[in-house]
Amino acid sequence: MKITDLIKKKKLGEELSTEEIRFFVKGVSDGTIPEYQTSALLMAVWFQGMNREETFDLTIAMRDSGDTLDLSEFPDTIDKHSTGGIGDKLSLIVLPFWLASGLIVAKMSGRGLGFTGGTIDKLESVPGYQTSLDRDTFFEHIRRFGVAVAGQSESLVPADKKLYALRDVTETVDSLPLIAASIMSKKLATAASTIVLDVKYGEGSFMKTRKNAKKLAEIMVEIGKNDGRRMGALLSPMDRPLGRAVGNALEIKEVHRFLKGEAEGDLKENAFALIAAGFVLGGKADDLERGRQLAAELLENGKARQSFYHWLRAQGGCFDEDNFEEAVSYPAAEYPVYAEKDGYITAIHGLNIGIAAMELGAGRKKLGDAIDPAAGVVLQKDIGDRVRSGDILAVLYGNGDFAAAAEIVQKSVIIEDGAPQEANDEIEIFNGDRWEYFEKDHD
Ligand code: URA
Repeated sequence: MKITDLIKKKKLGEELSTEEIRFFVKGVSDGTIPEYQTSALLMAVWFQGMNREETFDLTIAMRDSGDTLDLSEFPDTIDKHSTGGIGDKLSLIVLPFWLASGLIVAKMSGRGLGFTGGTIDKLESVPGYQTSLDRDTFFEHIRRFGVAVAGQSESLVPADKKLYALRDVTETVDSLPLIAASIMSKKLATAASTIVLDVKYGEGSFMKTRKNAKKLAEIMVEIGKNDGRRMGALLSPMDRPLGRAVGNALEIKEVHRFLKGEAEGDLKENAFALIAAGFVLGGKADDLERGRQLAAELLENGKARQSFYHWLRAQGGCFDEDNFEEAVSYPAAEYPVYAEKDGYITAIHGLNIGIAAMELGAGRKKLGDAIDPAAGVVLQKDIGDRVRSGDILAVLYGNGDFAAAAEIVQKSVIIEDGAPQEANDEIEIFNGDRWEYFEKDHD
């Protein structure tokens, strides 16, 4: 088999066979296919796409490029994955609810790159929390505590590391089959029996339209189901930051406030939808509506918050529950950003807020950059709020130069004379069998 034949076939829009896809992934993993030919094939896939079978084959070949975990000794393991967002702290909120219901949480997570944050970076702002667990310790934690959330092991899906690095520099990240295979190969390698996906669309995500995000969600759900997993998925907009805080320790504090009962807005809607999907798939609720009710109960009676503490302590987290937010407070200067005119906030451009947070030190410009846990942006106003010139729109936190970030934030919060149109008021969630739609704001 010759890689040039595969590139030619894909360039002409033809289908690659299972053997050809295996040959490609093996060649990428063992280095026998040079990067320039891998890049050429990636670009051909970007233009010509892949059909369902090719996408399944690519996912499985990538999954099998490294170690896999066998979690079959545990009855009901659950994992969640987001396609990446700004201020996206949903894993940190959702996992404690599942844990409180008796589900076993087994999750390997990535670090953030660029404007999107990573769960592992956020967790590292909790003093003592160990994100690096070897295989045996990962299993031992699940057995002892019912939860393990760690950084992804190097030996898991090595093909994705090589492919992702090339996609990043060849402008081929935003390809539906390549994203589906990249995410699902890692999810299948970590092998939880239930996987709930949060698929984002809009300005701050890879899928710019809801239609394409839905296609991505559907193919990932199908890949997981084919491999024997129970699958759920939420479609959620990512054109504004999720919640108010963007930045590692700042987001941990927001999660804590949520678990103390200060849950609000889209953060609550999306969290409850994901939690409910996990409950339905994991056999803890008969339908999504009952799943949401159970989520409300676990919030109200404090059990979700207790599970949060249990999980963090299990992995070395060191804090006093009564002063949790102080334990995750780091020295930083504060810099307010003021409204320059009167009006209504009609948009908050999430992508730019993510870039501002990164400039302040909350994110990495390139792999390996250090992160400042204290850095980030906390929005003080929301879309639809009426503001007066001089009101504080956001507070920036960091230990460097605020000027550039302040300018970005200033331009990202759009103030206009008229109130904004009502936003999309529906939650769209795949319950394992079909899509369901919920009106927002029904507790
Ligand atoms: N997240 C991944 O892990 N892979 C992609 O291709 C995109 C988002």
